[in-house]
Amino acid sequence: MSAPNTHQPTTRGQHVADNTPGPRPASAPAASMSDAATHASATAARASATAIPTSDAALRASTTPHPTGDTAARTTTSAAPTSDTAARMFDLHDRVAIVTGASSGLGAEVARALSDLGARVAVVARRHDRLTDLAKQIDGTAITCDLSDLEGIGQLVPAVADALGPPEILINAAGNRFGTERAEDEPLTDVRRTMELNLIAPLLLAQQVFPYMRAAGRGSIVNVSSISGRVGVPGIPQASYAASKAGLSGLTAELAVQWARHSIRVNTVAPGFFRSEITDSLYDSERGAEYLRRNTPLPRQAVAGDIAGAIVWLAGDAAAYVTGQTIVVDGGWTAR
Ligand SMILES: NC(=O)c1ccc[n+]([C@@H]2O[C@H](COP(=O)([O-])OP(=O)(O)OC[C@H]3O[C@@H](n4cnc5c(N)ncnc54)[C@H](OP(=O)(O)O)[C@@H]3O)[C@@H](O)[C@H]2O)c1
Repeated sequence: MSAPNTHQPTTRGQHVADNTPGPRPASAPAASMSDAATHASATAARASATAIPTSDAALRASTTPHPTGDTAARTTTSAAPTSDTAARMFDLHDRVAIVTGASSGLGAEVARALSDLGARVAVVARRHDRLTDLAKQIDGTAITCDLSDLEGIGQLVPAVADALGPPEILINAAGNRFGTERAEDEPLTDVRRTMELNLIAPLLLAQQVFPYMRAAGRGSIVNVSSISGRVGVPGIPQASYAASKAGLSGLTAELAVQWARHSIRVNTVAPGFFRSEITDSLYDSERGAEYLRRNTPLPRQAVAGDIAGAIVWLAGDAAAYVTGQTIVVDGGWTAR
């Protein structure tokens, strides 16, 4: 693995930015995420009786495409893990991760959480300054890239591999909704832009990380979709956005099955409503905030750490036997 580079130009629209190591800020979200993961590990250990495999066993299972009866027997007869063992399931110290959409919102929080658990993280989006700041905070690498430029993203993953080492985790969090027209009026240009950024770019990035993950004998890809890929959301027209997010779940299941023999897992996390640049105006209007409260069973607003928690679980060995799934994190919105 080479050391992260300084201002290393790549191809069209991409730039590996300065990632001079800086102090990790004692920011509340990062600290609380780490605490949450540790807490979850300890809870898992307490709750387990005899059947939960050690993280070593989980790793063996993940690197053995077709376990023998022996392996299965070892897995089911393992002693209950200590909390230390459970904590190792969340440990990412030997992993390189790529997080797209990391210049703000959910992606930025996910990048911090992965870094807290030890991963070396490449953060990807268009806003260079934000990425550079975050990369300094987490001792990672910033890659400025417009993911809508599908021809131009071909060098992204090799640039990460040069800077940090072969990626074993890919989080496709970049996404957007273009326009607010009802379905019957949505312009073709907006439909195309939505599909390209939200669905095609994640597929292309998955294709790019595949050779590295296959060589490593393991990998975890997590796509970020939306509950609107599962249910219609009254009052917020978003036909192509919903289609692109539903497409991610189909893509997830297909890639999971095709790549399972290489122990590459592919999953999707579907958020409900979270305050971010995409949704600020909804939260800021009294009517919007009331609409969200009324439709969310859990009695609080979501925080970005709620998504980060699901994603770090899927990224590491704690979820070593989970693939092809769409995990909904919505405070119960779709359970009604
Ligand atoms: N917030 C919610 O309630 C909610 C609900 C369901 C699903 N989601 C999904 O969650 C993901 C994260 O959204 P968020 O809520 O965190 O919103 P956000 O704060 O607006 O983040 C979106 C991220 O995507 C990046 N991005 C947008 N267009 C890009 C492009 N062409 N190339 C590269 N990066 C691009 C943005 O960075 P730059 O502008 O710097 O490029 C930003 O980092 C999205 O996929 C969204 O669809 C969010």
